[in-house]
Amino acid sequence: MSNLSVELNRLRLANPILVASGTFGYAREMEAFLPFPQLGGIVPKTITQAPRRGNKPPRTVETASGLLNSIGLDNDGLEVFLAKHLPYLLSLGTAVIANIAGHDREEFLRMAERLGTFPALAAIELNISCPNVAGGIDFGVDPVKTESIVRGVRAACGLPIIAKLSPNVTDIVAIAQAAAAGGADAVTLTNTLQGMAIDWRRRRPILGNVVGGLSGPAIKPVVLRMVHQVARRVPQLPIVAVGGIASIDDVMEFLVAGASAVQIGTANFYNPGLAGQLVEQLGESLRQLGAQSVTEIVGTLQLA
Ligand code: FUM
Repeated sequence: MSNLSVELNRLRLANPILVASGTFGYAREMEAFLPFPQLGGIVPKTITQAPRRGNKPPRTVETASGLLNSIGLDNDGLEVFLAKHLPYLLSLGTAVIANIAGHDREEFLRMAERLGTFPALAAIELNISCPNVAGGIDFGVDPVKTESIVRGVRAACGLPIIAKLSPNVTDIVAIAQAAAAGGADAVTLTNTLQGMAIDWRRRRPILGNVVGGLSGPAIKPVVLRMVHQVARRVPQLPIVAVGGIASIDDVMEFLVAGASAVQIGTANFYNPGLAGQLVEQLGESLRQLGAQSVTEIVGTLQLA
């Protein structure tokens, strides 16, 4: 038996395969597809303090190698999440990592303080990188704002903290260093890459919000490069990788590059049972490297 457990500072997971925010709803609709306790964890859709209706439709469009979305953080707000979704999520026998977005630093702190009163949560993921709302991405492209939000949340709440970063930056290492300086237990690399789709016959953008965030296989090499860079330059900061993961080979590439855990995102839309299948396949891939545990292979990329 392989040891699949991983530790990301204060966050301990039974295995490194999680499902990504925005691709798994609040889990109810996925019940038929996989046994939840098999997962390393669930990250439900981002919640905001107040309910949000989201952006104008169309809000998704499939491209040649990925999905563009401009959902706009459509959600019922923090209190509905706590009353309606969290009790169900916490009954599923796997780690639950609440994902939050504030419209400013103070709102992040208020939400984190409230979530801190639910110690059964495994962690909080800070969405400082949504490309589809005013505010979102502005936090995650600025190291000063990133550090300040993470530091404030760390002081406001006792739960482990993961900062979800944006790939829409020139220097991901600087942002990761800022998250580490603020006290993040880990970073999620990365949110979506800004993109666009056009209907040239109508001379119109396809998305109602004009631009959106690209996810799926198209962004995997970009994210792999960022995981590699952050793992080398900020070695004390564990990484959760997300970006185009669709097979056990993708999982292994990210682990070897330096991620301690991964999230399955866009692939959930066409194969909602995938995360469970990957957990089952992980032990065999570790054996192929002669490893008995996940931690043995994290960041073992050979450059020479
Ligand atoms: O528009 C959205 O709801 C996407 C959120 C995100 O990428 O964080």
